[in-house]
Amino acid sequence: MQIVNYPYPTLRHKSRPIKRVDAKLREIVREMFELMYESEGVGLAANQVDLPLRLFVVNLTASPKEGEELVFINPVIKPQKKGLDEDFEGCLSIPGVHGPVKRPKQVKISAFNLQGEEIEAVVDGLFARVVQHETDHLDGVLFTDRLTETAKADVQPMLEDFEGSFEYNQRLGAIPPVDVILERLKEWEARYC
Ligand code: CO
Repeated sequence: MQIVNYPYPTLRHKSRPIKRVDAKLREIVREMFELMYESEGVGLAANQVDLPLRLFVVNLTASPKEGEELVFINPVIKPQKKGLDEDFEGCLSIPGVHGPVKRPKQVKISAFNLQGEEIEAVVDGLFARVVQHETDHLDGVLFTDRLTETAKADVQPMLEDFEGSFEYNQRLGAIPPVDVILERLKEWEARYC
């Protein structure tokens, strides 16, 4: 398992809800936390590790020794208070790229945990930003899609570098052809969705 970079097609895949949790899925979640910590991230969505599953993991401290490890399966988000907050975001699938994103200040998130229990929380600050960023991933949306025109123009050259590198690796055979990637996603969906 590894984190895939923009513009890997799975990052644009809209994930369907998960219908079953098994030992394999629990192992996947464990590996996702490990990869997230290696990159010092605070959140990681399943499609960032090339899996079309509607789940993401969060630890706001980015450290395996601190904070709380949270797993959100089939998350649904509803903005609460009026008002947007703007802050800089980055993404483990677009390393080195950062930009300001406006998002609702406070949201209610409902989801299931790995034990199949329903969880619901009203969150704000960094927590609200992270769950919105990760839920976006599950819908195939990247934070760069939400930048203002000016901010987007600033990061455009870096995005084009990522696109060039993706095409190069695909020509080399280091990244499979798109139809092979999509076929693999279908197999995962058949198992879990
Ligand atoms: Co991200």
